[in-house]
Amino acid sequence: MKIGAPKETMNSEARVALTPESAQRLQKLGYECFVEAGAGLAASLPDAAYEAAGVTVVGSAAELWSQADIIVKVREPSADELDAFPSNKLLVSFINPASNEPLLEKMRAKNTSVLAMDMVPRISRAQKMDALSSMANIAGYRAVIEAGNNFGRFFTGQMTAAGKVPPAKVLVLGAGVAGLAAIGTSVSLGAITLAFDVRPEVSEQIESMGAEFVFLEFDEEQLDGAATNGYAPPSSQAFIDKQREKFRELAPSIDIVITSALIPNRPAPELWTEDMVASMKQGSVIVDLAAERGGNCALTKPGAKFVTENGVTIVGYTDFPSRMAAQSSTLYANNIRHMIDDLTPNKDGVAVIDMEDDVIRGALVTHQREITWPPPPPKIQAIAAAPPKAKEIVESAEEKADRERRELQRSLNSTALMLGVGGFLCLALGYVAPPSFMQHFIVFVLSIFIGFHVIWGVSHSLHTPLMAITNAISSIIIVGALLQVVSGSWLVMTLASIAILIASVNIFGGFLVTRRMLAMFQRS
Ligand SMILES: NC(=O)c1ccc[n+]([C@@H]2O[C@H](COP(=O)([O-])OP(=O)(O)OC[C@H]3O[C@@H](n4cnc5c(N)ncnc54)[C@H](O)[C@@H]3O)[C@@H](O)[C@H]2O)c1
Repeated sequence: MKIGAPKETMNSEARVALTPESAQRLQKLGYECFVEAGAGLAASLPDAAYEAAGVTVVGSAAELWSQADIIVKVREPSADELDAFPSNKLLVSFINPASNEPLLEKMRAKNTSVLAMDMVPRISRAQKMDALSSMANIAGYRAVIEAGNNFGRFFTGQMTAAGKVPPAKVLVLGAGVAGLAAIGTSVSLGAITLAFDVRPEVSEQIESMGAEFVFLEFDEEQLDGAATNGYAPPSSQAFIDKQREKFRELAPSIDIVITSALIPNRPAPELWTEDMVASMKQGSVIVDLAAERGGNCALTKPGAKFVTENGVTIVGYTDFPSRMAAQSSTLYANNIRHMIDDLTPNKDGVAVIDMEDDVIRGALVTHQREITWPPPPPKIQAIAAAPPKAKEIVESAEEKADRERRELQRSLNSTALMLGVGGFLCLALGYVAPPSFMQHFIVFVLSIFIGFHVIWGVSHSLHTPLMAITNAISSIIIVGALLQVVSGSWLVMTLASIAILIASVNIFGGFLVTRRMLAMFQRS
């Protein structure tokens, strides 16, 4: 079958759904690849690069529509594209089916199957096709870069000869994929980063990234995200009030606010109000990643950047991934390539729509003259509910002392028993064995005892390196064996030679393993 990528027609859309690299992978799956002339230019992918990868470059979209069986796109087809769209094809693209009924209706009438990349279920197996996440990750990163571009100071604090520079204070609202990417970028640039999300389960994630979670003093229990498939439920009015009270307190000290809070199938919640913007310092920046859905900031103008009267820059761009078109095209084309890989079970260049495949069924919005959206719930839950935490047993001081006394008694009893049995066996052996043997035997038993206790106390994670090093003790064996290897008896000579060989392997192997283990913990 033939796969074709047209040039995106939407203004300012610089991404492309097929790259020379993804085309080569698709060719290996048995497909022929086509691209419209100039489709990749804005993403730094000239036609020559496609030709070098074996892709056929065609002159116009109409030519591409007629040639390709599978059409891959970034943005949903525009009204003009829809009219020109051929029948009986397969379209793979972002679609936004929840608010795109006319598109679904037209595609159904044209008997064209449509796979919506924004409907890929968020199950582990589908992560490589999750275009929403790959684009959100880029948007989060770019939001921080955009903020830095509009902010007149450093992110990190500095002590310079010319004076002390305080670090910037960044607040990230909403810690989904985009928010977490923004937190990571902001922390790595050295800013003091605070973050807030309605889903309490993300607090640990935020703190592990080096940011501080903004806690609200609020009694009402928040729903675990697992109850809503990982997405945020709408907040209660009492919660919103508490949240706003906290944000009002923070606003005057914050330099940069990055908002990315969304609730599925609803307008973006308004988190940063007009009075909060008014209380921010001159030169502060707000980047609203939710601008496309109305914005989290009350003053955001979707698609635009402006400066308020009190000197706060508000960035409401809706095309963050497109502003990094080379990176986002690579990741998006990879997502599409994985999707087509999933569609080609026999790796023979023939796409098969398998309605039993959770990922394909989840993304399929029209098929065989029917609208197949919304899909049935996937057989595997997207985000499993967190298992209930085992109740912590709280011991009183007396109970603790009692438990410790019992444990000590148990350990003393077992030691006394071992010593008793060991002592009795030694006595019994001493009764029959010669005194020279007993002298060596007692040293041997004591060394086993001490060695056992030394090794037993070491944490399991350190066992391999430690063992490897202690294996070097084998050198003592080598010394002993070297003394014996000159013996007149062939049996002693043979045993000594074997001991030298095995102990040498142990020593050198031990050092080799240790080096490899240590290298695993070192930064390259
Ligand atoms: N398993 C997977 O493959 C996979 C892949 C990607 C994302 N996910 C999960 O899916 C979920 C949604 O991720 P997303 O990036 O699409 O989220 P999203 O874009 O729907 O929302 C962004 C964030 O805004 C938060 N939010 C909503 N209302 C808010 C409010 N009033 N105040 C503050 N924050 C608010 C949400 O909790 C969410 O964290 C997350 O749990 C994420 O970890 C799973």
